[in-house]
Amino acid sequence: MPAINQSTRALTAAETAVIRVEDIHKYYELGETRVHALRGVSVAVQPGEFVAVMGASGSGKSTFMNILGCLDRPSSGRYLLEGVDVSQHDKRALALIRNQKIGFVFQGFNLLARTTALENTELPTLYSKVSKEERHRRAVEALAMVGLADRAEHFPSQMSGGQQQRVAVARALVNRPSILLADEPTGNLDSRTSVEIMEVFQGLNDKGLTIVMVTHEHDIAEFAKRVLIFRDGKIRKDEAVRSRPRAAEVLKTLPTLED
Ligand SMILES: Nc1ncnc2c1ncn2[C@@H]1O[C@H](COP(=O)(O)OP(=O)(O)O)[C@@H](O)[C@H]1O
Ligand SMILES: [Mg+2]
Repeated sequence: MPAINQSTRALTAAETAVIRVEDIHKYYELGETRVHALRGVSVAVQPGEFVAVMGASGSGKSTFMNILGCLDRPSSGRYLLEGVDVSQHDKRALALIRNQKIGFVFQGFNLLARTTALENTELPTLYSKVSKEERHRRAVEALAMVGLADRAEHFPSQMSGGQQQRVAVARALVNRPSILLADEPTGNLDSRTSVEIMEVFQGLNDKGLTIVMVTHEHDIAEFAKRVLIFRDGKIRKDEAVRSRPRAAEVLKTLPTLED
């Protein structure tokens, strides 16, 4: 009996997805009560997408991001990261995957104060098996990607909020992750600086990096290619962004600090 030739068959969207969640639920047990934070979420994200996640406070955005980032597991349902089902992985296995495949950026920059931009960027590489020289090379490269090559020896206190967040982005990129996850990355930044961070994200996305970002602000979500809106633990809307602005262009219209 002739075997079906798998190799020449076109891959389906489900197979090429970098992220695929299928009917995930998440319950938190709080003493006697049970919080149902995610109530059946299914979504696939293809390589090279830039997705904004929106929704009211308490709608499940961070719970969703924590699962995508392998910081937590769903109570039920499946999560496939680059085709591998990680929903049953234990903490150790999740930590390994997280370090190899995922870059995180948070609202707070979480940089070490007495440590230079370069050393902060290098930190995640300490757990990987590459040489000291290679770690240094990757950190220099990551800082260059966020436009901070000339700030490598600066300490966080010597940098603006926007520059500190860019160091945090470089740190998230240093292990060359498959996805960048950002939970309100512009939450602590003024409007111009927020758009500067979106310029960095769009540039990285142009080079093929897959990005999933939580934001409260519509103007910021518009820089993504697709918007998911959460409500009561479910995805209520999943839409492509039409006529997406380029952050670099928007910046030309915004006043600089000196103005
Ligand atoms: N660690 C936790 N323990 C108990 N309940 C939690 C925990 N984290 C989140 N929740 C609850 O789950 C729901 C969703 O929260 P979250 O995912 O943080 O929403 P969002 O990020 O959209 O504000 C909320 O009702 C929240 O109170
Ligand atoms: Mg949240």
